[in-house]
Amino acid sequence: RPARDSRPGPHTVSVVAHRGASEDAPEHTLAAYRKAIEDGADALECDVRLTADGHLVCVHDRRVNRTSNGRGAVSALELSDLAALDFGSWKGRTTDKEEPDRDSRDSTSVLTLERLLELVADAGRRIELAIETKHPTRWAGQVEDRLLALLRRFGLDTPPPGAPSPVRVMSFSARSLNRIRSGAPALPTVYLMQFMLPRHRDGQLPAGVRIAGPSIRIVRNHPDYVLRLQRAGHRVHVWTVDEPEDVELCVRLGVDALITNRPKRVLSQLGRS
Ligand code: G3P
Ligand code: CA
Repeated sequence: RPARDSRPGPHTVSVVAHRGASEDAPEHTLAAYRKAIEDGADALECDVRLTADGHLVCVHDRRVNRTSNGRGAVSALELSDLAALDFGSWKGRTTDKEEPDRDSRDSTSVLTLERLLELVADAGRRIELAIETKHPTRWAGQVEDRLLALLRRFGLDTPPPGAPSPVRVMSFSARSLNRIRSGAPALPTVYLMQFMLPRHRDGQLPAGVRIAGPSIRIVRNHPDYVLRLQRAGHRVHVWTVDEPEDVELCVRLGVDALITNRPKRVLSQLGRS
């Protein structure tokens, strides 16, 4: 399909807040997601991991060391251990103006996926969720099974017929996406790619996947690859797109979604704020 007009057009590209509005607030916290919603993001991205007692929490790294005042692997800690940690102060003050009362503590404590789903349900407008499964092989399917059970509970595992799904599942692991599709065949899946590998070149994705998730590095170095994906009928969601020239490139190529740490700035560049 031909490249779209290079001028950013309204609503041609979905703006996805990567780990929330994570440039302004500590990643994967309620504060970051509330800010992204306030900023007008179309969708929220989050990484999910399983705690030792089987809860899905929104944490990127294997360990909590970088983003909290604690130490250790998420998979070795229980939810109550994580709840005692501060996931906000590593980034300085949060966007909350008030003194650290109970509400602002909640806004920077560990975020469960369940709480994030509640936030989205109560947002008062449509917001999509792009959920990434992290290290799914370690748990041999447990992350996907828990995720599917939770989505089912919220009525999000089967999109309404003919309407776009409010949730999609992303992964670097084709096996993980396969497991999701086995449990929820209508749920869209996104195959993430960090580097351009020979097996990617023909524009084909793992069986059943309709959305490609190339890194901005792939898009910069191989813009023709985006066209190949589009010609093969795939949608394209690019991460992590923070620089104005990258936003412009993605718009010029007609990608479907930009995953960014700076939703407010990107929306402004697109003329949407
Ligand atoms: O949105 C995809 C992107 O988040 C993948 O990389 O490391 O930020 O999870 P990472
Ligand atoms: Ca991610």
